[in-house]
Amino acid sequence: MNNNNKEYLRYWEIAKSKMIPHFAIWKEVINEGPRVISKGDGVYLWDINNNKYIDGMSILWVVNVGHNRKEIIEAIYEQLNKISYVSLFGGYYHEKALELSELLTNILGMDAVFFSNSGSEAIETAIKLAKQYHYIKGNPNKYKIIGRWHSYHGVTYGALSLSGIRQNRIFFEPLVPGFLHFEVPYCYRCPFNSSYPDCELRCAQDLERLIEYEGPKTIAAVIVEPVMSALGSVYPPDFHKYYQKIYKICKENDILLIFDEVNNGFGRTGKLFAYEHTSVKPDMFVFGKGITSGYAPLGATVVSKEISEVFKDWMFMHGYTFGGHPASAAAAIANINIILNEKLYENAHNMGLYLKEKLQELMEFDIVGDVRGIGLHFSIEYVADKLTKKPISSKFWIAARIEKELLKNGVYLARASVDRTYIAPPLIINKEQIDFIVSALKKSIYKVQQEFFSFKK
Ligand SMILES: Cc1ncc(COP(=O)(O)O)c(C=O)c1O
Repeated sequence: MNNNNKEYLRYWEIAKSKMIPHFAIWKEVINEGPRVISKGDGVYLWDINNNKYIDGMSILWVVNVGHNRKEIIEAIYEQLNKISYVSLFGGYYHEKALELSELLTNILGMDAVFFSNSGSEAIETAIKLAKQYHYIKGNPNKYKIIGRWHSYHGVTYGALSLSGIRQNRIFFEPLVPGFLHFEVPYCYRCPFNSSYPDCELRCAQDLERLIEYEGPKTIAAVIVEPVMSALGSVYPPDFHKYYQKIYKICKENDILLIFDEVNNGFGRTGKLFAYEHTSVKPDMFVFGKGITSGYAPLGATVVSKEISEVFKDWMFMHGYTFGGHPASAAAAIANINIILNEKLYENAHNMGLYLKEKLQELMEFDIVGDVRGIGLHFSIEYVADKLTKKPISSKFWIAARIEKELLKNGVYLARASVDRTYIAPPLIINKEQIDFIVSALKKSIYKVQQEFFSFKK
């Protein structure tokens, strides 16, 4: 990505000492140079040195409608010309936040919205809403929140405590008390060493075991991501049966069920929302990322009537200075209208079927253990040994190596994992562009596989 162009070298100097990177090893940036992305259009990106890439990740499961959509840019411009900032504290509103609340509740069949700036903040909001809801209803001891192992719900303290990724947690312990975890519906590496349907979805029953052990009167909410992203496009073998079990367990114990659709929402999984794959409706939804396709930051927590009614007489003790910013709300409305008008969730479904078929070809590689996904939410899991599913040592950092090769081959598939490649292109992608991504994946995996076998020797 780097070269000796003067402008680039100037940015490299700055990156060496002036900016701490997110989830990256700074030394690598210092030695190898920052990857400066400068321009985007449709499914394409250009770096500062004018190298062109296909964006195979919607940057970070974000840019669902593609880059450079003038309708969204103009909506933001128009709003900022009118008023650039209004706080939503203390009973003040602005038109776009209200219009967006109406739009979101209509398309979801829910009742009310609380705005924030990111997925993490929208998760914090959901946690607090759940706790205060039970408090108001006379159950202050219902304070524990349950998530799933290996889940990613963000980086702020509540969201991190809810998440189940060990590496993300260790530096920051002790985490917030009262967060518990149950097992994942991860058939490729079943936590119970079983297989579907013989297992009878023991992974869902694990929730019941945990609740019985902790005492149902102490649990406020269960928060799950319908199609798990960080773990690598993991979802149950039977959406309906699994989520019906989870729903039933929650309802029987007066526990709120919350779906984190920060990644899944707005078409990513081939439906407008991932809950449509299940046969249940949660009590709350959490959104971020694709809600604006990244044109401006926004998080939203959407609640059922049962919850919103409880808050009519009580102040919700929560708020963000920039929550529901006018530019972000305007961007979200324009973005959602594009997704609805162009039925991008249908393209995600259709192109997802094609991508799935093409990605199966990667199973020929010795280091590809599994390829899975739904809609335009896919993952490749690498293994040292296909038969035993032995994981590849993190020292080899295979995903990072493949990511670098992919860039050389004109595809941006940003690394977020040690041994997985995520594939989640903008929902406007076509077959030809998918072919390009898969062919680059083949070239890149082939090269890194050779490296891996010589590394092992
Ligand atoms: C499922 C899920 N929830 C929450 C978050 C946190 O969102 P943010 O990074 O906007 O805080 C993410 C981010 O990747 C996510 O994937």
